[in-house]
Amino acid sequence: MKKIFIFDTTLRDGEQVPGACLNAREKQEIALQLARLKVDAIEAGFPISSPGDFKAVEAIAEKVKGPAIVALARAVRKDIETAWNAIKKAEKPRIHVFLGTSDIHIQKKFGLDREKALEKGLEALKFAKSLCPDVEYSTEDASRSDPDYLVQVLEQVIAAGATVVNIPDTVGYAVPQQFGQLIAYLRTNVSSIDKVVLSVHCHNDLGLATANSLAAVENGARQIECTMNGLGERAGNASLEEIVMAIKTRKDYFQFFTAVNTREIMKTSKLVSRLMGMPVQANKAIVGSNAFAHSSGIHQDGILKDRATYEAIRPEEVGITEHAMVLTARSGRHALRHKISDMGYDLQEQEFETVYNQFLSVADKKKRVYDEDVAVIVQDVIFAHLDQSIFYTLESYKVTTGNGELPEARVKLRRDDVVLEATTQGDGPIDAIFKAIDKVVGSYHKLEDFQVKAVTETKEAMGIATVRVSREGLRALGRGSSTDILKASAKAYVQAINRLHWLLQRNSEARPVK
Ligand code: KIV
Ligand code: ZN
Repeated sequence: MKKIFIFDTTLRDGEQVPGACLNAREKQEIALQLARLKVDAIEAGFPISSPGDFKAVEAIAEKVKGPAIVALARAVRKDIETAWNAIKKAEKPRIHVFLGTSDIHIQKKFGLDREKALEKGLEALKFAKSLCPDVEYSTEDASRSDPDYLVQVLEQVIAAGATVVNIPDTVGYAVPQQFGQLIAYLRTNVSSIDKVVLSVHCHNDLGLATANSLAAVENGARQIECTMNGLGERAGNASLEEIVMAIKTRKDYFQFFTAVNTREIMKTSKLVSRLMGMPVQANKAIVGSNAFAHSSGIHQDGILKDRATYEAIRPEEVGITEHAMVLTARSGRHALRHKISDMGYDLQEQEFETVYNQFLSVADKKKRVYDEDVAVIVQDVIFAHLDQSIFYTLESYKVTTGNGELPEARVKLRRDDVVLEATTQGDGPIDAIFKAIDKVVGSYHKLEDFQVKAVTETKEAMGIATVRVSREGLRALGRGSSTDILKASAKAYVQAINRLHWLLQRNSEARPVK
């Protein structure tokens, strides 16, 4: 059996999703989890895009061991230099240079002809190679490029030292059989192809990203670029969990394996979804909440007789543990500490004490505290200090409402040593709270999205609220959790506003989207 390399681009292509902007600590938390998942490469970001992204990539390069740490760069010296500076301390650094090969990209984006574009790409590749031994070259929009031009480009970039050559279906245009044929054509016609890892990067505009990636593998590709939960530009990228589980479940057919520890899949999916504020659809393959739920009586009967009747994949294989250990108010510090480290978090003593206190107050309200609840508390605490550059903190709120009455909210926010308060009415209690917060803050942002979700399925569940706000083209995400959804929503809204203010302050540094 041959190995398929898994290149995760959740932190780069995935992070291009509108509103999914992660801060450095969040990116690092995801990268550490991706390392536990045992992906082969983590594309940590696009360092030239903003100083914030540069720092996040740099921190990942220093702290995350195991996978190659990859930084993206256009075929431009400054991009490449910046990418290298961000990853040079990594255990296994890789620069990823990309340049279009389709006529539409060459002519419309760059105003060049094929020959000049190839020269530009080669110059960039050679420069990257002079800095870093591992250089990946992507022929952007490859699936809409002339295959013979692709052959010519690949021959030359391999001769110039590329270690990985990537064939992207940038606009999600390919269909499996044809994409497989393109890969087979490149394998046959690029004489030096065996010297490099042949990679693919498929987008999901036609819902074919996973199918196209697997067709490519059957025809000789050995690296798949993908993202957790299929996040990514537009309709997203090939989904890591689908690719990995297809290769594992159908190893009889594919005869390949990956190094991914599939038991970490669910945890990774939840972490990414929570931090990016992107809920996973219930029927999403592998990681959706219904992916292993059997509702038909016939199926349930079959499952009880023998799980294999209606289950191609065992939930345990992807890390579904059925709330393995439930904590209560009496569990104590030791059990909580054990649970937290089992979940892969590494807390400082002070952070642990804060988590413990919050855990006790949740445990007082709920009888049982599940893994998901603990994860929410831990994340609230570890990310809280990031928001210390904050402008406002929620002091208190009070809502009065009743049958036929317009709800009224009184909100107190602290800014430095001053407590500011406002009272307003709204269409519902949450609307009233948000309007009162707006009145205190006095800013003109737009509420783009608001969601509340129960973390677990019990009556006393913790609610997690996600709020997205925008202004002047900048977007910020806030999250808040509590057993009281009004409080969770208020916390999320204040956090989103704080982050938006912070982004506006450094407006000049705001990231250009690729
Ligand atoms: O979709 C694409 O072509 C990309 C490249 C940068 C690999 O994301
Ligand atoms: Zn892409």
